[in-house]
Amino acid sequence: MRETARRGKLIHRPRRLRRTEALRALVRETHLSPTGFVAPMFVRPGRGVREPIASLPGVARLSADEAVREADALAALGVRAVLLFGVPDAKDAQATGAYADDGVVQQAVRLLRRRSPDLVIATDVCACGYTDHGHCGLLHGGELDNDATLDLLARIAASHAAAGADIVAPSAMMDGQVAAIREALDAAGFTGVAIMAYAAKHASAFYGPFRDAAASAPQFGDRRGYQMDPANGREALREVALDVAEGADIVMIKPALAYLDVIRAAREAVRLPVAAYWVSGEYAMLKAAAANGWLEERRAVLEVLTAIRRAGADIIITYAAADAARWLAGRDGPAV
Ligand code: PBG
Repeated sequence: MRETARRGKLIHRPRRLRRTEALRALVRETHLSPTGFVAPMFVRPGRGVREPIASLPGVARLSADEAVREADALAALGVRAVLLFGVPDAKDAQATGAYADDGVVQQAVRLLRRRSPDLVIATDVCACGYTDHGHCGLLHGGELDNDATLDLLARIAASHAAAGADIVAPSAMMDGQVAAIREALDAAGFTGVAIMAYAAKHASAFYGPFRDAAASAPQFGDRRGYQMDPANGREALREVALDVAEGADIVMIKPALAYLDVIRAAREAVRLPVAAYWVSGEYAMLKAAAANGWLEERRAVLEVLTAIRRAGADIIITYAAADAARWLAGRDGPAV
């Protein structure tokens, strides 16, 4: 009744532009492209190794040769960037495996560089996967020693650059880590290697599956003394500003889905590219719900990625990179 009475009287009808898919596409504000995705990869020593990670469905730990195959598959889908995490066989208190010339990441970078010359190779620069205590740096009297860890991170970053990385991504949340790495890279002649700073990395419950994948959970305590309080948005901007001042080329916000406001604020605060990491737990909960038939995976993944972009991220680091690229191309199929 009311409808009839109003017919013809409404001036504003936003629905006019929602009538057909072509109209919706015409006025769509946010677009996803696989060129903006970065696929995380967990690399293992050995050959022919492909170990599925139970808490990260569709993701496996790969030896370097398998990583090359994966990179080829990603490239065929239009995803041209990877972020490497090492999962070494041995760990020690000093994280010596993190900067070893024949370390797991260094070897993988070398092979990828040789076999996939066009691939953008980014590496995670942190100690947590290499320390026997599982913390992100060097301990001194049970506490993380910030400044001693800076030298370690700089050494790790330089070793990744020497192996052929395009981008190093420090994730330890030590104060001054970007400046220390920039200085070490430049001193070693790697002035062209970029830094993607995990600028605002929060102490999140959503890193759980990653710590399974990388066997990097702290053996005592937690990371709240160095990673950010999830409650703090203003402080995130302070961290972003510091990393810009220290010479970051890209700033990253992490996690992503629960931190869209921080992504938006960072986008408005800086002119650098902003990256967002849709982290393991955020991905795993969606996969688990999809596996139960509780939501439609394809639509949910693309909606989340679109939301992260809409919030202001130029770059999205995502375990769904291959699937999303395939779906965007209108092709279906299982994860690579
Ligand atoms: C290493 C690191 C972590 C992640 C990225 N780099 C784990 C952590 O801080 O405990 C998490 C990524 C994810 O959950 O997908 N410091």
